Amino acid sequence: MATNGDLNRKLRMALVGGGSGSFIGRVHATAAVLDNRAALVAGALSSNPERAKASAADYDIPEARAYTSYQEMLEKENALPESERIDFVSVATPNHMHFPVAKAALEAGFNVMCDKPMTLTLAEAEELYEVVQKSGAVFAVTHNYTGYPLIRQAREMILNGDLGEINAIRVQYIQGWLRTKLEDTDQKQAAWRSDPAKSGAAGAYGDIGTHAYNLGRYMTGLLPDKVSSHLTTFVEGRKLDDYGTTVIRYENGALCTLTASQISHGRENDLAIEIDGTKAAIQWRQENPNEMIFRQNGEPHKIYTRSPGAPFMTPMGDAACRIPAGHPEGFFEAFANIYRAAFDAMALRALGKDFEKKDTIYPNIHDGVEGMYFIQQCVASSGQDGAWLPLKHDAARR
Ligand SMILES: NC(=O)c1ccc[n+]([C@@H]2O[C@H](COP(=O)([O-])OP(=O)(O)OC[C@H]3O[C@@H](n4cnc5c(N)ncnc54)[C@H](O)[C@@H]3O)[C@@H](O)[C@H]2O)c1
Repeated sequence: MATNGDLNRKLRMALVGGGSGSFIGRVHATAAVLDNRAALVAGALSSNPERAKASAADYDIPEARAYTSYQEMLEKENALPESERIDFVSVATPNHMHFPVAKAALEAGFNVMCDKPMTLTLAEAEELYEVVQKSGAVFAVTHNYTGYPLIRQAREMILNGDLGEINAIRVQYIQGWLRTKLEDTDQKQAAWRSDPAKSGAAGAYGDIGTHAYNLGRYMTGLLPDKVSSHLTTFVEGRKLDDYGTTVIRYENGALCTLTASQISHGRENDLAIEIDGTKAAIQWRQENPNEMIFRQNGEPHKIYTRSPGAPFMTPMGDAACRIPAGHPEGFFEAFANIYRAAFDAMALRALGKDFEKKDTIYPNIHDGVEGMYFIQQCVASSGQDGAWLPLKHDAARR
């Protein structure tokens, strides 16, 4: 099959963020090219102009397209002939830079792959929503955990009614790396994450709580109604929350408990979810992502393994796999599944064809706004000793 279908060429990527010593930019660069459907050709890789230029060699970005700022990049790329110009911009900067970069890229006509949380504030998210609508561009948010094959399998099983009506979600995202006050050392990732000007109104809840919330929403499709949240800071002197527990009530009466922690000794990236339905329950952990447990009273427990081609796999679960069962797939592949679905839409747009904008496989602007609303309401509820506050937003995906 031709690359990107009728488009018959690779999509051209630009990366913002990802300079030497950073984390997620390299993941974007790897995930985007995993299926041979894109090439990284340009970048504004760091806030430091010298480092931005110097880091380009790590990605094989030619010197002429290693820019010192995202503004320079957008201007110069737009001046190139269409046959060379970038198709999309991946935003892998700290949170405070997502909005200016994403907005400018959309206004310059480019598609955007934006990391989470989508913006610094809800007001920015709502403005970006309007910009996306006006632009007609593809816009995805890398809530990458939704890309795991067994998460997509579970979503399809839930939407098919295999679990019956959903009564409860228990989701947790537990880390331990901020048990010590790393922001007082020269650890860059910790420094910006605990600075409200760069991270936003929440710490653990913005960084990992939004992933957990998005996962429950993506898997069940349940619409939120109200939220009651308790966020706290256990490490003395830290400016943002490093632990929190929240209760969400959904419109159908289901209850969700969501805990996010950065201060639990020995815990790495323990994103785990259990969903109880009237007919069955499921359980999944991202630290063991190729297995999912399915339970029904009176029956032996079933372990679903990621098994492309097996009769029990749903179409979405199956389509998200790349290699046969038993060969572990993980973080990069799940991340690449967000890119893969967005590339389908980008190829259609490049061909001047219509593409789905709301009910997309990949997390989109609706999910991004919802994530920012979730953060805002959790912080507000916590400030009122856990008062129940509304959690319905007009932009919600339904
Ligand atoms: N989806 C995920 O699983 C996941 C995981 C980790 C981080 N993230 C998100 O990714 C983003 C980056 O996190 P990180 O851990 O990689 O941070 P990081 O500190 O490791 O890297 C940030 C990079 O952005 C660069 N940068 C800052 N301002 C810039 C600007 N104006 N122009 C160009 N580059 C600029 C920095 O120089 C650095 O290279 C954050 O929003 C974070 O929430 C997502």
